Amino acid sequence: MTRKLNVVDHPLVAHKITMLRDESTEPSSFRSLCGEVTLLTAYEALRHLPTRPVEVRTPITTTRSPMLDGPAPAIVGILRAGLVMVEAILTLIPHGRVGHLGLYRDPETHLPVEYYKKLPDRLDEREVLLVDPMLATGGSAVHALDILNTAGASRVDLLSIIGCPEGVAAVHDRYPDTVITLAALDDRLNEHAYIVPGLGDAGDRIYGTK
Ligand code: PRP
Ligand code: URA
Repeated sequence: MTRKLNVVDHPLVAHKITMLRDESTEPSSFRSLCGEVTLLTAYEALRHLPTRPVEVRTPITTTRSPMLDGPAPAIVGILRAGLVMVEAILTLIPHGRVGHLGLYRDPETHLPVEYYKKLPDRLDEREVLLVDPMLATGGSAVHALDILNTAGASRVDLLSIIGCPEGVAAVHDRYPDTVITLAALDDRLNEHAYIVPGLGDAGDRIYGTK
């Protein structure tokens, strides 16, 4: 396992992942669980954010204490399923700037098809966190990283809920320095390029479209 892959090892995360896997979990619970797992894993994925000490007056004394430094981080969600992760991270970083990338997998080729793009400015100065619950073939993540790279982003990390070795390898083959944080690293892809054991189609389960 490479240093650029973090798989969060925590009983709360594992418990919630099991609930996400359960096919009887309804969309409302599924959405909440995705948000909760995002919060727990973002804690690790955002550990590198820079801080600077500021002076603060407490009820007891005045002290120097750290606050986030630099331009507001950018959180970029891959539509549709990444939206729920963006909303969760905004509760941690309310001043974050949000980007949206509309991508879907062609059902035959499993290759990403781009249909929307809106990104914050000054990506070269910001910490960028790309979010999508599923890292399967890695095609969508690599396409998104290509877009962010072309847009000038200098550091982009990827946060997904479930990944598999094929997706991790696809990202690291093209972007070896991208740090990937996962809540679970599953076994493999099946013949339809779905993650096994996985949780099925994240977008459909979040929005109840199937
Ligand atoms: C899912 C998921 C990822 C992509 C992962 O989206 O949210 O974006 O598949 O697969 P990959 O690693 O093989 O590219 P999907 O294409 O189903 O679109 P949707 O969110 O609009 O349903
Ligand atoms: N997209 C999903 O939503 N789930 C998978 O298992 C693979 C791709």
